[in-house]
Amino acid sequence: MGRLIRGQTDNPSGKRGRPDRRARGMAILVFTATFASFSSARATGDPARGAKEFGVCAACHSLNPELNKTGPSLATVWGRKAGGLPSFGRYSPALKGSGAVWNEASLDGWLINPAGYIPNNNMTFPGIPDAKVRTDIIAFLKAVGETGRGGPPVDIPAAYTATPLNLRELKPDQEVTAIRSCRDSYFVATADGRIRPFWDESLRFETDASPLGPFPGKPAILPSGMLGDRAAVIFAQPSEISSFIRQKC
Ligand code: HEC
Repeated sequence: MGRLIRGQTDNPSGKRGRPDRRARGMAILVFTATFASFSSARATGDPARGAKEFGVCAACHSLNPELNKTGPSLATVWGRKAGGLPSFGRYSPALKGSGAVWNEASLDGWLINPAGYIPNNNMTFPGIPDAKVRTDIIAFLKAVGETGRGGPPVDIPAAYTATPLNLRELKPDQEVTAIRSCRDSYFVATADGRIRPFWDESLRFETDASPLGPFPGKPAILPSGMLGDRAAVIFAQPSEISSFIRQKC
């Protein structure tokens, strides 16, 4: 906690501390040039390498400002207050109350060991022991943030900003018209006239309340998993689920 409070008072905007850190980095370079390479948390990262390394984050974080996944969009994380993205409704009280502001130092502390830096947070990620990798990812997030504020353009891989499939524009084989349940089976009928059987443990029911989620009363079915036997039926809202499924053998 001490680290956070210090970061907060010295460095409320994430800007004031930077020249200071650079000056200290210079001193290390002058006096112990050999150690400078080990002090990589203070070295400049490579945003292009960071763009590739961000792949480990991308399963949970988009760089599309409109898209939150398991975690909040990181498109505008640079300089943001921790827990400060209004469109993300799943922050832990711990993160929101931490007082952290995301800059080089706080991101480095977070990415070394998220659970140690802000105990009881919701990010199930073990951390990145390699300082070089952390520095690169941080340089990339900084470049992304500064591009958004008129800085030089940065190459953001399209996968990081891609929007998910629009479930309001379904093909007939994706539009569910009826679901019947009998013992351990579901039978899912789609708008192309097919009825597919599923073992009940292979079919997941989900909701998507985002603007890309399905229209009410028109759930979508999408394959999930690798073997072709699993699928997810996605409804507009939870109240639809049990009323849509008819129990009949
Ligand atoms: C398994 C999913 C998952 C992975 C992988 C993951 N995160 Fe997160 N991240 C989350 C969640 C969930 C939160 C919200 C935590 C909370 O509220 O306590 C979060 C929060 C954050 C925050 C705080 C954002 C804010 O608005 O305050 C940052 C910064 C962050 N993650 C960076 C990263 C980076 C960088 C990586 C990759 C090195 C990464 N995360 C990997 C799920 C993940």
